[in-house]
Amino acid sequence: MQRIFSGVQPTGNLHLGNYLGAIRNWVRLQNDYECIFCMVDLHAITVWQDPEQLRSNTREVAAAMIASGVDPHKNIIFNQSQVPQHAELAWIFNCVARLGWLDRMTQFKEKAGKDKERASVGLYAYPNLMAADILLYKATHVPVGEDQKQHLELCRDIAQKFNHDYKEEVFPIVEPLIFGEATRVMSLRDGSSKMSKSDASDASRINMTDDTDSIVKKIRKARTDAEPLPSEVAGLKGRAEAANLVGIYAALQDCTSQQVLDDFRGQGFGTFKPALAELAVDKLAVIQGEMRRLRDDPAHVDSIIRTGVEKARAIAEPIIREIHGKIGLLQP
Ligand code: TYM
Repeated sequence: MQRIFSGVQPTGNLHLGNYLGAIRNWVRLQNDYECIFCMVDLHAITVWQDPEQLRSNTREVAAAMIASGVDPHKNIIFNQSQVPQHAELAWIFNCVARLGWLDRMTQFKEKAGKDKERASVGLYAYPNLMAADILLYKATHVPVGEDQKQHLELCRDIAQKFNHDYKEEVFPIVEPLIFGEATRVMSLRDGSSKMSKSDASDASRINMTDDTDSIVKKIRKARTDAEPLPSEVAGLKGRAEAANLVGIYAALQDCTSQQVLDDFRGQGFGTFKPALAELAVDKLAVIQGEMRRLRDDPAHVDSIIRTGVEKARAIAEPIIREIHGKIGLLQP
């Protein structure tokens, strides 16, 4: 069976982009692949995290995965820092990846902003740790949202260079799995930037934990244009905000954007937005109920994570030993 690895940063509330772009796809893949899902807490600390908050976010993200339908018995769910081989392999990859490769990473440029001298070294080396996450398990497939594509290309480059330098096919060349109607969910306030945990405006995103009132309000206030919805997807061109809302509807309803337009062609946002809000509230309610139940039982969530850590270590340990051998680190 082929192996999947994917991760989420426990840096705050998960939002609809994380759910529709990634986690929901994981649920679909779990029957066909051996899956490893990770709360990447070492990635989270590349920017400042309040310690107490980080701990509770890590549990919360595990709960969100489980509540979304990721089966903790079938899959491995764990936090990255508890399998020290991630950090170890990341160091080795720091020595494989070239500065020029990392210099091209657009996510670093976005996150570091204008003042990159003040960004942490960890933020710069972030993609090497991500490659280590995946290759530590020799995963073959990585389901993510569109924004992670460049990082996965880097992961392929690292695997290729390592295999070439050490003259053996040690690491697989991973395949990104980017699919569904919502591979890039955009901000509700600005159709040109993606929905993100780090956006200062909470109105820009729908959090998995938002109550009915907030979801309805955020969708009502979402930026749109004054035109009615077109009858064909091509008519959404140049209408980023409209295309985004239609895409979200399609993803939630599990249909295509064209099917949404078949139902709503010619209608204005005065009709479409309430329909979208109702759908979002309905779909999220089920997950939220389960999340509340898990929040009341942190010991249960911790025991799932502990089991995940043990299983992940059992896979990682022999692989890191193999890597040590290949590169000539003495194992007396
Ligand atoms: P993170 O925590 O930013 O996001 C988790 C997942 O959600 C997807 N995503 C989106 N999809 C669609 N629209 C959006 N607006 C949106 N925002 C986020 C992301 O693509 C991702 O799949 N670097 C990763 C975490 C990571 C990882 C890994 C992923 C660390 N190691 C190894 C895969 C494999 C990240 O920051 O995801």
